[in-house]
This record gives sequence, C-alpha cells and structure tokens, in this order.
Amino acid sequence: MKTKPILIAIAVVLLSACSAKLMDLTQTDAERGSAKFKGVTLESLNQGKSIFQENCNECHGLKRPSSRTEERWNKIVPAMVKKLNIKMGKEVIDSRKQDLLLQYLVTMSAVPKK
Ligand code: HEC
Repeated sequence: MKTKPILIAIAVVLLSACSAKLMDLTQTDAERGSAKFKGVTLESLNQGKSIFQENCNECHGLKRPSSRTEERWNKIVPAMVKKLNIKMGKEVIDSRKQDLLLQYLVTMSAVPKK
C-alpha cells in the first residue's frame, strides 16, 4: 500500500504540532528560581514542568511559560487548577503541586521562548 507512509507522515506532523516544545531546564534556571522561591531546585522545577505537561493541555494547548508575566501566572494558575480539578472530578493538583507548577511557570516566564 502506498498510502501507509503518507499516513505515518501526517501522524508525525500532527503529533509534533500538538506538543509544545519546552526547553530542558538547567542549573541556571534553578538558581534564578531559588532566588525568588525558597527551596526551589532543579528537581522541583522539573516536577513543576511535569505537572504542567501532564495536566495543562486537557482543554487547550500548552501555553509557553514566557507567554505570561509573573503577575498573570499568579492569577491564572489557581483559576486553571480549579477548572482542571472540577473537570476531573477530583483534586488532581493539590496545593503542593500547585506551588510547584506556579514556581516552574514564574521561574521560566523570565526566559524568552521557554
Ligand atoms: C477544564 C479545562 C481547562 C483546563 C484543565 C486548563 N485550562 Fe487553561 N483555559 C481554559 C479556558 C476555557 C480558557 C479561556 C477562558 C479563561 O481564561 O478562563 C483558558 C485559558 C488559559 C490561559 C489564558 C488566560 C489568560 O488570561 O491569558 C492560560 C495561560 C491557561 N489557560 C493556562 C492553563 C494552565 C497552566 C493549566 C493547567 C493547570 C490549564 N490552563 C488548564 C480551560 C482549561
């Protein structure tokens, strides 16, 4: 069948279009984050990133951390977590996870394209 490679190519394009390419986090990011939030480490930032990737594309694509300011994220994150938890019918993101998520988004909001 000649259509098979074409279908595979289409699937690859669609899949890569859906997943926002988030940059790998570095020690520099962790240092910037810990200057703002007590206790932030590279590991805790990566946890925040996973929470973001796993939950924040349920209803729309992932929004880049750099697309909003710290002030906006402080307002948006609690509102979106509430929406998510209502949609899922359980507390998927509790207050501890919400902090990790917010710390990741705010820390990375300072870096263009991240
Ligand atoms: C239950 C569906 C749902 C989930 C889950 C969800 N969102 Fe949203 N999001 C929306 C809707 C609807 C809008 C547009 C209306 C609004 O702003 O409330 C939106 C808008 C946004 C915006 C633009 C708002 C602005 O004022 O700039 C951002 C940023 C955002 N979401 C981030 C997130 C993040 C981060 C998460 C993960 C915690 C998330 N969303 C999870 C439904 C959802």
